[in-house]
Amino acid sequence: MSDLSLPRPDTLARRRRLLAQIGQGGILVLPTAREQIRNRDVAYPFRPDSDFFYLTAFAEPEALLVLAPGHGEGEQILFCRPRDPERETWDGRRAGIEGARELCQVDQCYSIDKVDELLPKLLENRSVLLYPMGVDASFDARVQTWRNQARSRSRQGIGYPMELVDSGHFLQEMRLHKDAVEADLMRAAAGVSAAGHRHGMRQTRPGMWEYQLQAEIEYVFQRQGAARLAYSSIVGGGANGCILHYVENRDELRDGDLVLVDAGAEIGGYAGDITRTWPVNGRFSGPQRDIYALVLASQKAAIAAVQVGRPVSDYHDAAVAVLVDGLRDLGILRQGREEILEKQLYRPFYMHRTGHWLGMDVHDVGAYRQGSEQSWRPLAAGMALTVEPGLYFAPGLEGVPAAYQGIGIRIEDDLLLSEQGAEILSAGVPKEIEEIEDLMAGGL
Ligand code: GLY
Ligand code: MN
Ligand code: MN
Repeated sequence: MSDLSLPRPDTLARRRRLLAQIGQGGILVLPTAREQIRNRDVAYPFRPDSDFFYLTAFAEPEALLVLAPGHGEGEQILFCRPRDPERETWDGRRAGIEGARELCQVDQCYSIDKVDELLPKLLENRSVLLYPMGVDASFDARVQTWRNQARSRSRQGIGYPMELVDSGHFLQEMRLHKDAVEADLMRAAAGVSAAGHRHGMRQTRPGMWEYQLQAEIEYVFQRQGAARLAYSSIVGGGANGCILHYVENRDELRDGDLVLVDAGAEIGGYAGDITRTWPVNGRFSGPQRDIYALVLASQKAAIAAVQVGRPVSDYHDAAVAVLVDGLRDLGILRQGREEILEKQLYRPFYMHRTGHWLGMDVHDVGAYRQGSEQSWRPLAAGMALTVEPGLYFAPGLEGVPAAYQGIGIRIEDDLLLSEQGAEILSAGVPKEIEEIEDLMAGGL
């Protein structure tokens, strides 16, 4: 997750802002992710917790951050693994206590082995405890143990946290508004993701297997420095494109079919999330063209609705309006427009929303609704989101002409809002029919 050629975020400034929000009397206790066993001696590749990494840029496992406003011996405390030459020979380098303190610019750093001893003391006389609730049951239990230990001293006149608050509540609002370094990292993530898609388009041939196309795309991601995928790649030929989270990727890509690819690289901790749909043989058929043009028109209408100040729901509504008109023109939906919208009669063909927040997590944190009315929140500069309408005509779907059955199309771009407008971070991969055909024919 750390790459020296990438800009490093100012995590100290983030922690200071959060300290001010926590306020005197509060304390934040935030662990990184836990290493997970995959099978026997094999662990899943480690990925830090996004909230923890956002506040520390520290990528090692077994680490925990404490923010304790006004704490005499330092407000910012990191627990991490100590140096251990033998373990480092087996498992890789560690920053160690001193190294991590310098790297993360925290006030104090202790061995993670000391956490059970020191945490109950840190909780003393704090009234509000912020921690990620319900993410990891074993961590929830440890927090209660530390709190109970602090409480056991209450007869001596020592206070302990009576109020427990989900730390996600604070962090999701911070993370929703991207700063300048995050914007650069997101440009990089979308840029590498786009390069993978472009390469995949060029390599696609009838008779290839979905996993081979997946390998071509992920090869570019990794070659360009992606630490990992942002999520499991979806490579669905033909009717597999109608399965929204198809990740088996084991079928053959057939002449005359489309292939739907939803794949994104993770760079510097940030996700790219791009979908393109292209013809396996390089040329869209007539029916494929009809549906593709409709999805593209709806995507463009949705992008036009991504504007600072407009409710986040507007761009979904804009996409649906175009899709509904198109489905009526094609004779697939026959009811009146109002009735279709009110009863959501388009849902057999378009069953997901048109996008989501994008950031360190591909489906990033941040409330979509707010206030006592729980109304859709307005878009603001610094927010990043995807725009990804689609149409899915699974084989045998009632009311769909045979020529359209088995067609699944989604077009997904990554957008970053600023006062100047919406920047399309994923513009590096074509989506116009002619551009895709040109690229696949060896042009562009
Ligand atoms: N790749 C997941 C999504 O598009 O939401
Ligand atoms: Mn998405
Ligand atoms: Mn996607």
